[in-house]
Amino acid sequence: MKPIYLDYNATTPIDDCVAEAMLPYLYGHFGNPSSRHTFGIEAKKGVDLARSQVAGMLGCDENEIIFTSGGTESNNLALKGAAYANREKGTHIITSSIEHPAVLRVCDYLQEEGFMVTILPVDGNGCVNPADVEAAISPQTILISIMHANNEVGTIEPIKEISEIAHSHNIIMHTDAAQSIGKIPARVGELEIDLLSVAGHKLYAPKGVGVLYIRSGTKINKMIHGADHERNMRAGTENVLEIVGLGKACELVRDHLNEYTAHFMLMRDKLEQSICSEFPWAKINGDKENRLPNTSNISFKGIEANKILSELTTIAASAGAACHSDQVDLSHVLEAMHNPPEIAMGTIRFSTGRMTTIEEINQAGLEIVRVIKKLAGNP
Ligand SMILES: Cc1ncc(COP(=O)(O)O)c(C=O)c1O
Repeated sequence: MKPIYLDYNATTPIDDCVAEAMLPYLYGHFGNPSSRHTFGIEAKKGVDLARSQVAGMLGCDENEIIFTSGGTESNNLALKGAAYANREKGTHIITSSIEHPAVLRVCDYLQEEGFMVTILPVDGNGCVNPADVEAAISPQTILISIMHANNEVGTIEPIKEISEIAHSHNIIMHTDAAQSIGKIPARVGELEIDLLSVAGHKLYAPKGVGVLYIRSGTKINKMIHGADHERNMRAGTENVLEIVGLGKACELVRDHLNEYTAHFMLMRDKLEQSICSEFPWAKINGDKENRLPNTSNISFKGIEANKILSELTTIAASAGAACHSDQVDLSHVLEAMHNPPEIAMGTIRFSTGRMTTIEEINQAGLEIVRVIKKLAGNP
């Protein structure tokens, strides 16, 4: 049987329209966008169009877009870039306990570099309280980084409210929007954000390409030195092929977001319904009122997630905890949400996407119910 992919938060396939837009750059337009001749001009046209497509989706100016190698690089540039550029002003950074390692490990590094980092707690739904942000601010605070939506449980954070607090103290506000772009509206003006990270492979563009939105006037240092590409913010000949793909992916999101959202949610809710009607004791994690429309993070208390996944041979999903030979790595997100180990241990994330069909969901529902019944009787 064909495997059923329910791990769209890990990565997405390339959309057919994206692949089609990329093809001329794979086979024909190989020029260096910095070259003045016709080959270069052709390549530059592709990059320029992509920049305007990304800007169109985010609602910003084209010259506020920096192409990067993905979400991790965008977060590194945002955090390190803002920290170093504003070091004279202060050395304090605020973030949350449920951020992706692409933010948390950067904060660890900055701490080694002499910055102070406050890691805010979250509530049981995985939500950061804006009042906690306000309370953590000191005259030394230069940067706040809170993710737009969490990759594991899907909780959407109150970014606009936090941005308002940040700006009332003249502090730079960054959000990691790797998981929200393409699933929920994410316009920089509405979020009132200064820096926003995008990861191409989470929105049906290829892996290895991303964007950092830098609001005009935001003080930030570059991290990759060399020639003066990307408004002298990121050196290196542009990854033209993938940038063209990301541009198209952003255009699709701008034009079809509502359809995508409705489809994700229909599929996700149907799946949850078939699981929870059989197992009312299963715990859905995340903020049910304020969650990514495609994400379902479910805990089956007392059953080990790895066992569930190994029995679910036809379904691709991911575990909230990983058991190794002599240790168990619990999800830092589920822990931060105060889930006891016996809950966190039995947690699976299912995430639906554009290509998910109702037949797949029906089949997946039956399979999951079969496996949980089997393991619940014999955990
Ligand atoms: C919230 C979040 N931020 C950042 C990243 C890293 O993005 P990339 O894989 O493009 O480096 C991911 C990917 O898993 C993510 O989910």
